[in-house]
Amino acid sequence: MSQNIENHLIEDREFLPSEEFRSKARISSMEQYNEMYKESIEQPDVFWAREANELQWSKPWDEVLDWQPPNAKWFVGGELNVAENCVDRHVAAGRGDKAAIIWEGEPGDKLTLSYKQLQDEVCKMANVLESRGVEKGQRVLIYMPMIPEASIAMLACARIGAIHSVVFGGFSAESILDRLEDCKAEAVITADGGWRRGSIVPLKASVDAALEKYAGVKTCVVVKRTENEIDMVAGRDVWWHEMAAVASNEHEAKSFDSETPLFILYTSGSTGKPKGILHSSGGYLTGAYTTCKYIFDMREEDVYWCTADVGWITGHSYITYGPLAMGATQLMYEGAPNFPDFGRFWQMIEAYKVSIFYTAPTAIRAFIKAGDAFPEANDLSSLRLLGTVGEPINPEAWMWYYNKIGGGRCPIVDTWWQTETGAIMIAPLPGCTPIKPGTCTQPFFGVEAVILDEEGEEVGANEGGRLMIRKPWPSMLRGIYGDPQRFQETYWNDFEGIYTVGDGARRDEKGNFWIVGRLDDVLNVSGHRLGTAEVESALVAHPTVAEAAVVGRPHEIKGQAVVAFVTLKQGIEATAELEKELRNHVGQVIGAIAKPDEVYCTPVLPKTRSGKIMRRLLKELVATGEVTGNVTTLEDFTVIEDLQKKIKS
Ligand code: WTA
Repeated sequence: MSQNIENHLIEDREFLPSEEFRSKARISSMEQYNEMYKESIEQPDVFWAREANELQWSKPWDEVLDWQPPNAKWFVGGELNVAENCVDRHVAAGRGDKAAIIWEGEPGDKLTLSYKQLQDEVCKMANVLESRGVEKGQRVLIYMPMIPEASIAMLACARIGAIHSVVFGGFSAESILDRLEDCKAEAVITADGGWRRGSIVPLKASVDAALEKYAGVKTCVVVKRTENEIDMVAGRDVWWHEMAAVASNEHEAKSFDSETPLFILYTSGSTGKPKGILHSSGGYLTGAYTTCKYIFDMREEDVYWCTADVGWITGHSYITYGPLAMGATQLMYEGAPNFPDFGRFWQMIEAYKVSIFYTAPTAIRAFIKAGDAFPEANDLSSLRLLGTVGEPINPEAWMWYYNKIGGGRCPIVDTWWQTETGAIMIAPLPGCTPIKPGTCTQPFFGVEAVILDEEGEEVGANEGGRLMIRKPWPSMLRGIYGDPQRFQETYWNDFEGIYTVGDGARRDEKGNFWIVGRLDDVLNVSGHRLGTAEVESALVAHPTVAEAAVVGRPHEIKGQAVVAFVTLKQGIEATAELEKELRNHVGQVIGAIAKPDEVYCTPVLPKTRSGKIMRRLLKELVATGEVTGNVTTLEDFTVIEDLQKKIKS
């Protein structure tokens, strides 16, 4: 991380969009940006009413914003149907034949769904869910591979007012169970499996294992994807294709209040179990839509591709809701970026003439390592705009992306945001903002981002501090599902009415934001959030483990790697096999992304005299191999000496 900061400090390369890009862009000068930004901050009612009015409302709102910190209501009294906005609206406007989703499975199978076909599929599934008794406000857990049915399932829930909670297909049965129990889901939508690096991920088997311990689910709809053998429980489990075959493709969408909950998405915090971030309808859709329009500058003729999974917020806002609300054509891909080899993405960009491409720095770093021959083998000239998300991008990766993938011609939008923010918060506008490697540049409309010190004072240019957001924005989280107290404490307790992001950042003299990383005990592994506390509790749940401390270590490709230190129970011997077993155990409890790269067994953990584990020292130790910082509060220094030897060996 410190190396990144140094790189950032000397970064002075600056790039401007080409005249051609600029002249066609929706926002083509910084004057225009500044003027609109000013209006969005000073008169948010005027600004957001104009944007939201581009969507379809069946009842207009009475008031744009009702802000009683920390509770915001947007477009109060207004009514809409989110799915209708993403699908039917475009069909009604005569664009039913336009491709909505162009999909490619990992084995190479292909499917294109027009907006009209998407409408039919969403309506059928809405009818299926209703026929199975799913009602407005009930929670539906979705555990799917990256197939069109994932977005169809989300939209079908939205259409009937049910609240979906998508769980990433890489999470374990235990993670599914935690989420089912937390949101008390009544239905599940899943698939027999999904393809990943040539193998089948047995999704239904994980759902079955979770449902053995949770009785609240009355319906489980299963997509046949991989045709692997699965168990179907009579009465509970039904096949998607069988239900859809007999369901009507007509479904009358009801209108829902703007604040109707749309989805819950679980994300990691610094303590305890993942929290269910709750988003609602009108404001969220307005945020997803507006950012697609201005930041991705999406056009009728574009082919847009976001490589995220729908199990993450990026997939919610920039695969399902935002692009479809825009009526865009998008590419969706099921599998791994390196299957059968690292050329897959570039072949697909050429084959489908992708013009806007949105991916994560961790993927870019892996591509760099794989070698330039892969992208060079394909014609990438259809690209006109690139994006990144999920973690700070190091300047070397940025330059490679810019030159090798973008041909030195495509602006890169480095988009900073969070599960909680619902939509992009800080990013360049591609037609006007001067871009530099490593900075997400300027705040989006309506976002009053500031960097504060411990006392809540704004820091000066280039001084580090905590990133905070002063004003409410339409797509902000509405709460943590079922836990208003945690919502208040996590996000709103630092300074009255100001949202605590949890990231450290600095702002340069030109107003560009440079994100340094999380300030709390949250790791960013390959762009995915992971709480150290979650991994620790998974470890101590193993019968051999007495105590565990988990820290992040800088990693060339993943950004951060998980490193665990454990003390074993009396009489248990530390062996290489046990360390391996503990790694796998974490994979089983949480999911493969949480598996520690290393597990060190140690007789004791470094602690303060009052008994607190000094993670700061462990972090330094794994990053540099030694501890040089202040150790005066450490109870017993020999612990560190022993660990130093262990890590070096
Ligand atoms: C980090 C992902 C630097 C940040 C959309 C944030 C970033 C966390 C960027 C949210 C970026 C995301 N530059 N850091 N462009 N984008 N982050 O909830 O630490 O999975 O707080 O949302 O990722 O992760 P989340």
